[in-house]
Amino acid sequence: MELEKIELYNFRNYKSASINFADGLNVIYGQNAQGKTNLLEAIYFCVVGKSFRASREREVINMQSDIAKIKIFIKKNVGKSVIEIIFSRKEKKTVKIDGIPIKKLSALLGEFNGVFFSPDELKLIKESPEDRRRFMDVDISQTTKQYVYIISRYNEVLANRNKQLKQNLPLRDLKNIMSIWNEQLADYAQKIKKYRQNFVISLMPYAKRAHSYITDGKEDLLVEYVTIKEDTKEDIVKKLEDCLEKDIALGYTTYGVHRDDLKVIVNGVDIRTYGSQGQQRTAALSLKLAELSIIEDITHTRPVLLLDDVLSELDGNRKKRLLDYCQGTQTFITCTSFDFPDIRCNKILIKNGDIDLTKTICQTDNH
Ligand SMILES: Nc1ncnc2c1ncn2[C@@H]1O[C@H](COP(=O)(O)OP(=O)(O)OP(=O)(O)O)[C@@H](O)[C@H]1O
Ligand SMILES: [Mg+2]
Repeated sequence: MELEKIELYNFRNYKSASINFADGLNVIYGQNAQGKTNLLEAIYFCVVGKSFRASREREVINMQSDIAKIKIFIKKNVGKSVIEIIFSRKEKKTVKIDGIPIKKLSALLGEFNGVFFSPDELKLIKESPEDRRRFMDVDISQTTKQYVYIISRYNEVLANRNKQLKQNLPLRDLKNIMSIWNEQLADYAQKIKKYRQNFVISLMPYAKRAHSYITDGKEDLLVEYVTIKEDTKEDIVKKLEDCLEKDIALGYTTYGVHRDDLKVIVNGVDIRTYGSQGQQRTAALSLKLAELSIIEDITHTRPVLLLDDVLSELDGNRKKRLLDYCQGTQTFITCTSFDFPDIRCNKILIKNGDIDLTKTICQTDNH
């Protein structure tokens, strides 16, 4: 999959711009506040149909206009396609694939695949288990539609169970009522555990390889899935029953896959607690690069990679090795300056919401 061109009209600080890309590394450079992140936002919009930063979508429309448009031209394994997103202050946005409006946003998924990474993604390592569960869930959902249903059912049943726990019912009555919820919860939990287990198994070798490459073999990455011990439905039900009194006392379900986590270990230590900033960043990046490979395995086409501001916090060696690693993937990387004369790339200077053609240098083969 290759993004050949983007056209932007009144999208954030872009009035009217048309930018061509190369198939390898595209370096989007320029001073602060020129529109580098806005450009990545527009590209990623076409991957998921949503912004990675605007809470209200109308924010993306240029302050001086009422309508905005993103249009991208993609080259696929077979054929080409055009995605267009039109925003208006008055109506809901319209998404078109090859000129035809889609009814549901889900129809966009799979049309143009991409993985986005910004310094914000460090949450994946540093913050609560919830962020790491979301990482697993979003990825599994991208490739397994049924998983979305299972997760939402699990959460529904869990909410019902938690509600019952707070009803102050006599223990015997509660035990009876709970048996239905426990059965259902166990059924979904068993499936979720299996999906997540398989996901981590397929993620591991890719993440390990990326991490080892970026650190020039100095660091060894390990990802461990932390979950419930029980595997069979019967054992999970039994455990839920055993926890009932504790759950009543605390007012929530203390056992289950809603408490799963991922442990990210570098050279034998848990980097959430002991890792340096650079190590945490490298590990988060490696997980994202692994995500790219997993999507490729399933869709048989390599997604594009979007890297916002990731170079500033890596040391010289890691920067260079990361850029090398990205050579085989169409990558869009933003930075304020780029001093790697030996790296083959397409350098795009962004100035005040437009491309500065006089300073845009193409060193790749296809241009
Ligand atoms: N709806 C909008 N209309 C007009 N301008 C906007 C709109 N939304 C954002 N901007 C402007 O776009 C400018 C560029 O933002 P962007 O985040 O892309 O900068 P950047 O080049 O990534 O900078 P940095 O190097 O600091 O990350 C900002 O100055 C912002 O005010
Ligand atoms: Mg930026």
